[in-house]
Amino acid sequence: MFTLLFIIAIDGPSGSGKSTTAKAVAGRLGFLSLDTGAMYRALALLSLEESVSPDDIDSVVRLAEHVDLQIKPPANNGSSPHLTEALARGVAVGEKIRQPNVTECVSRISSIKEAREVVVRKQRELAKRIDSLIKSSDVNERNNSPKGIVAEGRDIGTVVFPDADLKIFMNASLTTRAQRRSKELVESGVATEPNEQLKELERRDIIDTTRAESPLTPAADAVLLDTTDLSFEEQVARICELAESRMKSNDLLKDNAFDDTVRKKDS
Ligand code: DC
Repeated sequence: MFTLLFIIAIDGPSGSGKSTTAKAVAGRLGFLSLDTGAMYRALALLSLEESVSPDDIDSVVRLAEHVDLQIKPPANNGSSPHLTEALARGVAVGEKIRQPNVTECVSRISSIKEAREVVVRKQRELAKRIDSLIKSSDVNERNNSPKGIVAEGRDIGTVVFPDADLKIFMNASLTTRAQRRSKELVESGVATEPNEQLKELERRDIIDTTRAESPLTPAADAVLLDTTDLSFEEQVARICELAESRMKSNDLLKDNAFDDTVRKKDS
């Protein structure tokens, strides 16, 4: 589907560290970090703001058309990645989508099949735009555009980008995930404790893995990465190593395909 864009799909349950890992991997590889959950969160936020109940499927689907993703330029020229930002009715949603009331209702919103179809379509459109940008741009511009995407979510390797070049399914024990999530929240000024987060993660795991539409499950060809006993550095390094070795073999395949074409022409 994408000719020049290298796509890394990272899926896994809440609190497995996907989003911080995806950003770090994207920064190191010069890729775009695509946070797909932010779109479902923006949709949940719009539903709350406009008092649309998750049971009112038609209205939620209509709202999904008003949710989008835009690419933010990197913060500096160092290793900061290109990031995506969710928009609701054309306005950046910022940190509002991380509020507890949004987190509480987002699993129900994201289990609506018809709303997922709209959101997935928009995620693929964004990737297509980058792929065509790389194809059409000159060498200088090409060097400044992201060379690939690290997309993280629940259905990236199975539904959104089933032909992704590298698929990772990240997991960690429930206790570890609850401790990490609670630390993150406390650091961002939200009072909580691991036990409270453990119950919340358990509740979201059940909804995400048992929903009828695109339930959270590893793609058959995903590399399973259990991060319970890994440091953040180790998990980032592991994914970068895998990506770099796949990129090398993709280049070799392209070179061989080129050699074959030349051989055929010559013979
Ligand atoms: O990763 P997160 O916590 O920001 O995700 C928010 C919600 O969206 C969560 O309930 C799972 C759902 N989600 C999804 O169903 N598919 C995705 N690709 C990303 C997130």
